Amino acid sequence: MATSKGSSIPSSGNSHDHQDDDASFRVNELPRARFWDAMDICQWEGSWFEPGLVKPAVTFRTTFQAHHDDVLLASPPKTGTTWLKALCLCIMQNPIPIATSDIGVNAEAAADDDDDILAKDNPHFHIQTIESMIYATKPHPDLYSTPSPRLFHTHLPYKVLPDSTKNSPGCKIVYITRNPKDTLISLWHFFNSIFRPNGLEPYPLDRAVDCFCSGVHQYGPFFDHVLEYWLESQKRPTKILFLKYEELKREPKAEVKKLASFLGRPFASEEEVEKVVWRCSLERLRNLEVNKNGSILYGVPNSSYFRRGAVGDWKNYLTPELEEQINRTACSKFEGSGLCLEDA
Ligand code: A3P
Repeated sequence: MATSKGSSIPSSGNSHDHQDDDASFRVNELPRARFWDAMDICQWEGSWFEPGLVKPAVTFRTTFQAHHDDVLLASPPKTGTTWLKALCLCIMQNPIPIATSDIGVNAEAAADDDDDILAKDNPHFHIQTIESMIYATKPHPDLYSTPSPRLFHTHLPYKVLPDSTKNSPGCKIVYITRNPKDTLISLWHFFNSIFRPNGLEPYPLDRAVDCFCSGVHQYGPFFDHVLEYWLESQKRPTKILFLKYEELKREPKAEVKKLASFLGRPFASEEEVEKVVWRCSLERLRNLEVNKNGSILYGVPNSSYFRRGAVGDWKNYLTPELEEQINRTACSKFEGSGLCLEDA
């Protein structure tokens, strides 16, 4: 899917206790599976990854030193990562110069202000996904020389995060997830566009559901990924904010205020909140030139991050049997955890 250019994850760092450091670790000895008849994935620490991502993940885990004011965003793929990145960029830039007249009809003009980072670059450029930085199409800043507070992102499961991100009292984690059925449909569209472009038949949906439910897909199992962060966020709510895509859609202003407060950047006015919500909206982002063209990751067009963004889109695709298969898997995984992901 993407072309490796060599790791750009910072290698300066300190001691670590994990055995799987760069010297002893052999990716080609890990269990392998074929994903969608299109690419190899391998199993590391109980989860599945594109093989090229494993060494960067190991390096991140074993060398990264968190700062007291770092913000780590985390998510399974296709659950609202791009949206979360855009929101955090805007919130950390706050206060945004604002006039009341900027909201509504004049908002589009205001959005082209020089201060609007989203009009210049795709959100994935400014908040890179650490383990995939090797696939970046443009040079990116060295994480260690980025001014504080540093914002970065990962799709990695909680269990393989660097200890320092878990233990540094000030380092905050924001996790976003989404109901499994819409996540699966979003993944299906995304990988069809990458692996089967130009009118090729889409991958059979029943087989995609099988992969998803068995957990044999990139960063899978999805359900374990979500559950780990959920349980951790319940234990340490001031450390980990757990967001749900559907709640952001339903109550964007309330959720964005919650996010800003968690990041220590509360809004001073309703106008500021409205402006951030609008600037980060799907309809606006997908129509920006920077997102219509180009790509931040090799082989992945920027436009592929923006599709329908609807809650309940799965109803247009899943048969009752496939719906039931996902529901059953979700129930067995989440039972007793208190976690509920609304799906329509
Ligand atoms: P759909 O495929 O259901 O449309 P990720 O960013 O984790 O890859 O997730 C992609 C999903 O988030 C896609 O969902 C995409 O349309 C949706 N999305 C992207 N930007 C969004 C935004 N600003 N607001 C709401 N949804 C957004």
